[in-house]
Formats: sequence, C-alpha cells, structure tokens
Amino acid sequence: MTGRNQTAVTEFLLQGLPIESEQKNLFYALFLVMYVTTVLGNLLIMFLIRLDSQLHTPMYLFLSNLSFSDLCFSSVTMPKLLHNMQSQVPSIPYAGCLTQMYFFLFFADLEDFLLVAMAYDRYVAICFPLHYTTIMGPKLCLSLVALSWGLTTLHAMLHTLLMARLCFCADNVIPHFFCDLSALLKLSCSDTRVNDLVIFTIGGLIVVIPFLLIILSYARIVSSILKVPSARGMRKAFSTCGSHLAVVSLFFGTIIALYLCPSADNSTVKEMVMAMMYTVVTPMLNPFIYSLRNRDMKGALGRVFCRKIFSRYL
Ligand SMILES: *[C@@H]1O[C@H](CO)[C@@H](O)[C@H](O)[C@H]1NC(C)=O
Repeated sequence: MTGRNQTAVTEFLLQGLPIESEQKNLFYALFLVMYVTTVLGNLLIMFLIRLDSQLHTPMYLFLSNLSFSDLCFSSVTMPKLLHNMQSQVPSIPYAGCLTQMYFFLFFADLEDFLLVAMAYDRYVAICFPLHYTTIMGPKLCLSLVALSWGLTTLHAMLHTLLMARLCFCADNVIPHFFCDLSALLKLSCSDTRVNDLVIFTIGGLIVVIPFLLIILSYARIVSSILKVPSARGMRKAFSTCGSHLAVVSLFFGTIIALYLCPSADNSTVKEMVMAMMYTVVTPMLNPFIYSLRNRDMKGALGRVFCRKIFSRYL
C-alpha cells in the first residue's frame, strides 16, 4: 500500500460544466426548469396511476415504477449541480461522492431492468392476449420489480465497494458535474485494473443482456402482429409499443453513443453533454412520451381531476 502515506483526500471538487460565466444564469435557469419539469411530470404520472383504479394494470404499475426511478435518478445529480453552479467552492465530501455514485448506478440500472420488464409485459399482452391476466399476475409483477431492485443493489454495491478500496492522493478535481465512476477511476492513484475489468464485464452484461431481451420481445411482437394483420390491432399495438421503443432508444442510444463511439478530441465535453442527455433529458421526456400519445393516461387525467372538482362543488 504505497498510496496510503500521502494525505488522503477528504473531499473532491466538481469542476462542473464548461459554461462561460456570462451564460451561467441562463443555463442555471434552463436546468432548473428542466429539473422541475422532470419532478412534476413524473410525480403527476405516479399520482394518476395511484389514484385511477383503471390504471392498476401491470403496464401502468411498471410505468409508475419507471417514473419513480426517473425522478430519483435525476435527483441524484441535478440538485447538486444547481447548487454548485451558485457556490464559490463546488466541493463534495468523499463519502458524499461515493453515495452519489452508488445511487447514480442504482437508479440507472433500475431503469434498465424496468424497461426489460415493460417489454416482457407488452410481449405477453400482444403475443398471448388470452393468457395475459393469468401470466402477468400481481405475484409475477412484484417479483420482477423485486428482482430489479435486488440486482441493481448488488451491482451498485459492487462498484461502490471496489471504489472504496482505492486511494486518492493529491489530485481531487473531478472534471465532471457529478461523481462519475470513470472520472473517479482516472483520479485514483491506486491500481484500477480490477475496477476496469468489472466495469467491462459486468457493466457490459448489464447493458447487453437487457438490450437483447428488449429487442427480442419487440421482434416477437412485430412478427406476431404481421402474422394476423388487422388495422385496429396494428394501430393499437404500434401506438403502445411505439412509445416504449422511443424510451428504449433514448436510453440505449445515449449509452451506446457514449461508450461505443469514442471520440479522440474534446472527450470530456462530449461525455458531459451525453451525461446531461441521460441524467436530465431522458427522465424529463419519459412521462411526456408515455402520456401524450396515450388515451388511457389522458382519460385518467380527466377522471381524476373532474372527480376532485365535482366532489368539491356537488
Ligand atoms: C411498482 O410495481 C409494483 C408491482 O407491480 C407495484 O406493486 C408498486 O406499487 C409499484 N410502485 C410504484 C412506486 O409505483
């Protein structure tokens, strides 16, 4: 243990986004609006699904879980980013940094697994419509959600514990706006080969296997729709699956663009822009993608609010 003799780093400095100081207020307002939209949009979806009994189906329970995950995911990084944009010394204590990393990984993975559960749910609904209610019972839904929580806890814990072994010596400036796993690894003065290996293998599995499962589900859905083409069934299937596919491509598109298309120059700036995409833009858009095109959600909005107004005035 050679790194131990130097003074250990007790806090990190988050360098933040490369924004000129004249534009700081503009970006601050923009990020604030985006964050508030994310919080309100996802809360609205969760409340609607909870209050409207017609939406107590597996698809909407998963969607409500996804909204919860989106809300938490963006709350892991955004409040700290907004706070740091206003403060003189954008520091974060060592333990805070590891905590942020843990929850970042946790909610990113949770979203990943929930997207698989949602794809499987649509697969069963469209390919086995007669057995749907028996297959997707409350027990299976709860098990899928519990399994997602379990796997994501293990994965986030593994990375956090591996990170906690490392030493940080002199350099404590993180060139990012949150405690990103790879940015922290670059700062460490210990041997990070084990960490890199785990990220490459387990991280790869956690992205590739869900992605393949999702593609497989939607491929089966499309082939089963094309086998018995009926205009109405097709429209219904494509309208629900279309919004799912939009969310899936938004999520995996940014991951793939970030990790599989490395660019030589300006890589930290590109990384940060992509990180903004998946920490802010994706969680903000998900509720809109699901509800704007969805008649059930609009109906629920009408029902829940009309009931409130009527119960007050009648
Ligand atoms: C998540 O899904 C489970 C199982 O379907 C459900 O019981 C639970 O209420 C959902 N949680 C949220 C926050 O919507």
